[in-house]
Amino acid sequence: MRYCPGRAPLAVPLVLCAAVLLLPALGAAERRRLACSTCRGIADRFNQGLADTAKKNFGGGNTAWEEKTLSKYESSEIRLVEIIENLCDSSNFECNNMVEEHEEHIEKWWFKLKKKYPDLFKWFCIEMIEVCCPAGTYGPDCLACRGGSERPCHGNGRCDGDGTRGGDGSCSCNKEYTGDFCLDCSNGYYSTLKNETHSVCTACHAACKTCTGSSNKDCQDCKEGWIKNEEAACVVCDASCVGCTGEGSDKCKVCASGYIKEDEKCTDIDECNLPEKVCIRENEDCVNTRGSYKCVCSEGFEEKDGTCVQTVKTGEEIETVATEPSPGGHDDL
Ligand SMILES: *[C@@H]1O[C@H](CO)[C@@H](O)[C@H](O)[C@H]1NC(C)=O
Repeated sequence: MRYCPGRAPLAVPLVLCAAVLLLPALGAAERRRLACSTCRGIADRFNQGLADTAKKNFGGGNTAWEEKTLSKYESSEIRLVEIIENLCDSSNFECNNMVEEHEEHIEKWWFKLKKKYPDLFKWFCIEMIEVCCPAGTYGPDCLACRGGSERPCHGNGRCDGDGTRGGDGSCSCNKEYTGDFCLDCSNGYYSTLKNETHSVCTACHAACKTCTGSSNKDCQDCKEGWIKNEEAACVVCDASCVGCTGEGSDKCKVCASGYIKEDEKCTDIDECNLPEKVCIRENEDCVNTRGSYKCVCSEGFEEKDGTCVQTVKTGEEIETVATEPSPGGHDDL
């Protein structure tokens, strides 16, 4: 615990030292990734600090005296201290710790090296304290990601540890792609372009589970609820089916809800003719639909606050007779 008692600057409450005890719980790879994002945050805040202090102190139209002072301030320790003070939120232990540990590097860069190495992130995070890697590379030695550092994962996925000293360079492909190099198409996608460096996969027709082209005739397998017809195209199962072995209501594996098997066919149930009434409010009628039914207010009545009330006549005009389905209606039985 070399950063704990005594060494923490005032900006870092000692309570935060407790955080150090939690760090070993992170895996080594996670710690490396965290270190890089911490450093990136520091470099970003430093650049922000540069911009803020440039604006704050001199508003343009400088006198000769100001010009001289400005150029002094520009590279001054005062400005550096102002910037460093704002590099970390006080609650960010990792950040405060990193700044404290490497303040000398930052000072050296500020006073001697920033002209030669203007990119602080690159100089500090990648080259000096070695917590990050250049984009497209990963791990302790900044090796190229799978698929190469130019286009990791062939532009079709994310390289594990990209830009950090962690990770293993393997690819997590976007959903359209699969394989170690994200060059193959996932199920439900087919290849529309493929050469050594590029691969483009496009979604199959909605009817297909797997396919070789864009139409429902290019399916290798049909999706659940679809079936191959005589022309070898996948077509949707009849509305009365859940799963089917062919087209039509006589080829259902199981009848959909609201349908019942009758003479080998899934047939619509007429809920309005069941012995037990399904529309039970006063002044409403039952309307059968395919696979379901609706309860609607009778003619001369309209829906209001969940009941059917008599339609009010205004003058000679009769207001619209409500035929809208009531919210009490059901989609299935
Ligand atoms: C592969 O395809 C891409 C995209 O069309 C193209 O830019 C690239 O030049 C091709 N590469 C080769 C080696 O043919």
